[in-house]
Amino acid sequence: MSDNANNQRQLRLGAILHGASGNMSAWRHPDAAADASINLEFNIASAKKAEQGKFDFVFVADGLYINEKSIPHFLNRFEPLTLLAALSAATDKIGLVGTLSTSYSDPFTVARQFASLDHLSNGRAGWNVVTSPLEGSAKNFSRKEHPEHSLRYRIAGEFLDVAKGLW
Ligand SMILES: Cc1cc2nc3c(=O)[nH]c(=O)nc-3n(C[C@H](O)[C@H](O)[C@H](O)COP(=O)(O)O)c2cc1C
Repeated sequence: MSDNANNQRQLRLGAILHGASGNMSAWRHPDAAADASINLEFNIASAKKAEQGKFDFVFVADGLYINEKSIPHFLNRFEPLTLLAALSAATDKIGLVGTLSTSYSDPFTVARQFASLDHLSNGRAGWNVVTSPLEGSAKNFSRKEHPEHSLRYRIAGEFLDVAKGLW
């Protein structure tokens, strides 16, 4: 790559909104917001701080199954698009990226959800497309079987084609 092309490369920075953190015991620290996972004000303040700090986006991760080994944040975290919709009204510039699984949702609904977030935020929506690795996810959707890896990714490919077509 030429020096010129190198100079034009830009690093995109994202800040994850992750409750009191990914640590099992972080919420117990006296200075931590113990209820950060479901505290809107905490999430607004974090997103605003990231925006002021010139981050390109905030990111809300998600998963569809929990068990006894899950970190506390996973037990009651906000559904990403719901939180991001609230953050869209409290921020101006920062990108709003959320996880949504193609293995347990339908393209028509998901295309509408992200299109809605995009309109609410004046073009700031982003989608972290995942296929949900955890077997137990099937139980939360009354499915008998969790699709295996290659099938999940085939479904994801078609899902994206349909979503893009709808947009
Ligand atoms: C930056 C980053 C963020 C991720 N966020 C999520 C997430 O929010 N939810 C999820 O189920 N998986 C998430 N994953 C996991 C990926 O979806 C994927 O399962 C993982 O990279 C392993 O790849 P595989 O599915 O081919 O085994 C993330 C991975 C990375 C690198």
